[in-house]
Amino acid sequence: MNRIRLDANRMMADMLGDKGISRQELAGMAEKAASAYAQVEANRGKGMQGWMDLPYNQGDVVERIEAAARRIAGEFDAFVVLGIGGSALGPLAVQQALNHLRYNELPAGKRPGPRLYVEDNIDPERMASLLDVIDLKKTCFNVITKSGGTAETMSQYLIILDALKKAVGEDYKRHIIVTTSEKKGFLIKIAQREGYETFYIPDGVGGRFSELCPVGLLAAAVTGIDVRGLLAGAKDMDERCGSADLFENVALFEAVLMYIAMQKGANISVMMPYADSLKLMSDWYAQLWAESLGKNVTLSGKPVNVGQTPVKTLGVTDQHSQLQLYTEGPFDKVVTFLKVENFRAETPIPHGCSDIPTIAFLGGKSHNQLIEAERRGTEYALLRAGRMSQTITLPAVNAETVGQLLYFFELVTAYTGAMLEIDAFNQPGVEESKIAAYAVMGYDSEIHTAKREEMRACPEGKPEYVF
Ligand code: PA5
Repeated sequence: MNRIRLDANRMMADMLGDKGISRQELAGMAEKAASAYAQVEANRGKGMQGWMDLPYNQGDVVERIEAAARRIAGEFDAFVVLGIGGSALGPLAVQQALNHLRYNELPAGKRPGPRLYVEDNIDPERMASLLDVIDLKKTCFNVITKSGGTAETMSQYLIILDALKKAVGEDYKRHIIVTTSEKKGFLIKIAQREGYETFYIPDGVGGRFSELCPVGLLAAAVTGIDVRGLLAGAKDMDERCGSADLFENVALFEAVLMYIAMQKGANISVMMPYADSLKLMSDWYAQLWAESLGKNVTLSGKPVNVGQTPVKTLGVTDQHSQLQLYTEGPFDKVVTFLKVENFRAETPIPHGCSDIPTIAFLGGKSHNQLIEAERRGTEYALLRAGRMSQTITLPAVNAETVGQLLYFFELVTAYTGAMLEIDAFNQPGVEESKIAAYAVMGYDSEIHTAKREEMRACPEGKPEYVF
């Protein structure tokens, strides 16, 4: 298997001087890292660490997914995911990484499956625009929500249910597939009552750790992605990270670097893929990193405010928008480049403009050379400015390397959470806003009514601050 590689040299004092991480600082973390590793391993497959089992325990599930995917691809022109957060970001990232960059715009004969739409917002214009571009009679909807009650997803379900009934009558059940918890929430009850085909999200797999379960695998299989390759890549990364020695475990090493970087005040993690195919990997990473590590209390109940703010960027595009800040602004960032060694296309630059030497110079080279040259240029500019950066190289973007990358970041997140001594698997700060939104909508239940009262007690804003 082609393995992804981490080059962290530009994080280290050896290259960066006093702004970097020293060998002594790494050595000082050996014990903490080993105990984080032990904690993560002790909880493997338990509590909310069911995601660590996913590369190993889904044989039957994968067969069902592949069978469903064949049926869907044969019957429908479009496959629409209704979901948000962890139920949407993984499917989006994997689709962008592994299929044609303009997949939906390809003619049907050139696509391995139906068009894919992932509807992860409730902008009122968005649903109307979706309905303008799909034919309900030829569309399959995958309603994904672990809790089975998320307002955004379930409101979309109600709209689609109504539209489907009008368009296809009693046949609507064939157009809906549910992915949810087997035992908890309302959606499983609805699915059982209606008889929808259903896939389960294992109890110990939280939204942002769910791409490698049916949440992500079904949409991937429907669009022709090799889901076995994704899981094989994840398994390979898991096996590669089987040591408590930070120099023997790439994810543990990375977690230690990020932990030390945070201690040094680098509270921003910039994810900068130099490949359009990996652009949405930054969105997926942003949720994983932000929701897992942004916490205000340790496991032992000590108040803290920890976390590192993820920033989503794209090379080279954002060299022309954010790089100025990264090289000259505050020393508060780690920049992680995602580099692709072998792109799936070669784009030569033809000769031309022979009278203008700086432009003529580009002729005979390729975009493949130029994008890597620009990445190296950015890497060098950051180094010269004393800024921490690191590079994760994918020999090629394929199911196995993407599976490795996903699992790598999941492990890094779990280890970092353990070092920060927080619960990396909950999201109480998100729950608060969900309750508040239902309260604003006027829902009457003890908790929502109380929240409405609490919100009413907020001081009124002053008119002089409103323009
Ligand atoms: O990571 C998480 O658990 C969350 O971000 C969820 O994915 C998100 O809130 C959606 O929840 P649900 O899948 O229950 O609809």
